[in-house]
Amino acid sequence: MRHDLSVRDERVRELMDETDADLEMLERTYERFGLVNALVSRPGLLYRRDVRPRARRGPVRVLDIGAGGADACRLLAARLRRDGLTGSITALDADARAIDWAARHDDGAGIEYRHALSSDLVAEGVTFDVIFSNHVLHHLDDGELLGILDDSQRLLAPGGIAVHRDIARSSTAYALFASVTWPFAGSLFRGSFIREDGLISIRRSYTPRELATVVPDGWRVVAGLPARLEARWEAVDARP
Ligand SMILES: C[S@@+](CC[C@H](N)C(=O)[O-])C[C@H]1O[C@@H](n2cnc3c(N)ncnc32)[C@H](O)[C@@H]1O
Repeated sequence: MRHDLSVRDERVRELMDETDADLEMLERTYERFGLVNALVSRPGLLYRRDVRPRARRGPVRVLDIGAGGADACRLLAARLRRDGLTGSITALDADARAIDWAARHDDGAGIEYRHALSSDLVAEGVTFDVIFSNHVLHHLDDGELLGILDDSQRLLAPGGIAVHRDIARSSTAYALFASVTWPFAGSLFRGSFIREDGLISIRRSYTPRELATVVPDGWRVVAGLPARLEARWEAVDARP
């Protein structure tokens, strides 16, 4: 089936977002996110560019909004340990099913798991040095998106950075994802929502230009590879 990728399709919904989604398939999806993210999301780049420089100043506090299976959190924890750096990582998700799965698969990473919204953390008055999300923005309506960006600004400590990372919609990204995942639909991705939801996600995603018109002043939208975008906001460093 052909889809018009020239416009963002907000009407389609990922199957994993359904409250009655099959739990076994959902958990297999969380498990497979690790593989997909390692291939497309470049969590190592997030570590090198945004987390490590801040961890070198002292213990770094990291928040992942919409952590899903929390594979990015586990990778960041492992990199900090490898580099002899310290910090705390909080994996937050609005879906209890994700947080339950992630907490059961912590594998000694020592991450704090929270079933909550970013606005709950704002109310608690906590702050972080690095706030990020991955593949979350396209799930949100305009009000939720602006809410998460505003919460991110409120939750950042001086010198901190918020980086919301997502897919950049294009017909090339759709065709590539469809063709690369097709041979594995009956094996690696069988019994998960990865392929179907991945294709829906691309249809729901922004182009960098579209996202730039939605984010408030002070946010910078950056395009990356492969078919990636980021909305970035840096808090002023209050140190002399
Ligand atoms: C496609 S998954 C991505 C998970 C993970 N970040 C990754 O890259 O694999 C999107 C996740 O965002 C969560 N989510 C959606 N809206 C949210 C919100 N407003 N606050 C926190 N989490 C949210 C969903 O529950 C889901 O687990």
